[in-house]
Amino acid sequence: ASLELGPYSHFMQKEIHEQPRAIADTIEALIDDGVFSAELFGDKAADVLAGVEGIQILACGTSYYAGLTARYWIEEIAGLPCTVEIASEYRYRTAVANPKYLIVTISQSGETLDTMEALKYAKSLGHPHTLSICNVPESAIPRASELVYYTRAGAEIGVASTKAFTTQLVALFTLAVTLAKLHGRLDEATEAEHLDALRHLPGSVQHALNLEPQVKAWADRFAPKDHALFLGRGVHYPIAMEGALKLKEISYIHAEAYPAGELKHGPLALVDAQMPVVVIAPNDRLLEKVKSNMQEVRARGGELFVFTDEDSHFGPSEGVHVIRAPRHVGVLSPVVHTIPVQMLAYHVALARGTDVDKPRNLAKSVTVE
Ligand code: G6P
Repeated sequence: ASLELGPYSHFMQKEIHEQPRAIADTIEALIDDGVFSAELFGDKAADVLAGVEGIQILACGTSYYAGLTARYWIEEIAGLPCTVEIASEYRYRTAVANPKYLIVTISQSGETLDTMEALKYAKSLGHPHTLSICNVPESAIPRASELVYYTRAGAEIGVASTKAFTTQLVALFTLAVTLAKLHGRLDEATEAEHLDALRHLPGSVQHALNLEPQVKAWADRFAPKDHALFLGRGVHYPIAMEGALKLKEISYIHAEAYPAGELKHGPLALVDAQMPVVVIAPNDRLLEKVKSNMQEVRARGGELFVFTDEDSHFGPSEGVHVIRAPRHVGVLSPVVHTIPVQMLAYHVALARGTDVDKPRNLAKSVTVE
């Protein structure tokens, strides 16, 4: 191991553990100010953000899943319509532009060709307003954008993105709350609540990291498998997608994510005693729905691996393994529930002996088509 790795075996593991710091750095200016303000997104942001009527997010890979998560926040908190599209699809279709929509690109590297081309295409369609959420200062995409919010995850070396994703989530949450404020949808008490939630987030993420020994204990059960299913609902559905992506990227196990309510429309046919089913089941308003989806899996003999919260009153039983994150953290729960799925992918990959930091056939940044 190189000096840079310190006590860690891989950059991915190190970067997973850097998340409390990366998140704290990304929201530092906001926490110092003590208020959500347009200036966090650049000098011209106040007029632009106050004037937009909707949000169109464009991204690839893990950054796309950050966008899908943000859609729930932007519509719920800011009350603005939000659509999210894979950049390589958007750039090649005849899209109908609404110039009142803000184009938001999300990119760790700021150099992904498809995202850059999607941004150019959006501008050519007549979108005047663009915001880049990016981790690399002065890279191509932020340079081509009107507004910028830099995540401060620091250099990410592992090909599978981890700390970039959770810092993108906090940047996008900050965007949702700022939009809410500029559009007259945020009272002072709620603003203080959101600020408080962000302030406590690095601590909650640290508590989730402390679950590593429990997550590691599951890895041996996944290592011999060829397939896995990930389920979530609502704002945690994109986290299930990110968990499935992490597992396939670095362990080469075929993993697919489904919104749990959609089980009965297809994936249930795949469920038998051989199929591990990972469920993101936090103590939110959809928990009862998710529980009945879990019963559908159990009734077909599927083995459940459930990530829930300490306060969900939900325990292990035959064929149901449970790991509890600390207390449900409310609206920022997707950030906390990302941590265990990242650690699961990491430990399954270790158990299978793959090259965790440099998975086959994949590149850190895709600058060609
Ligand atoms: C590659 C990386 C992924 C990343 C995606 C988008 O596929 O392996 O980890 O999510 O590109 O990259 P970006 O830099 O635009 O976020």
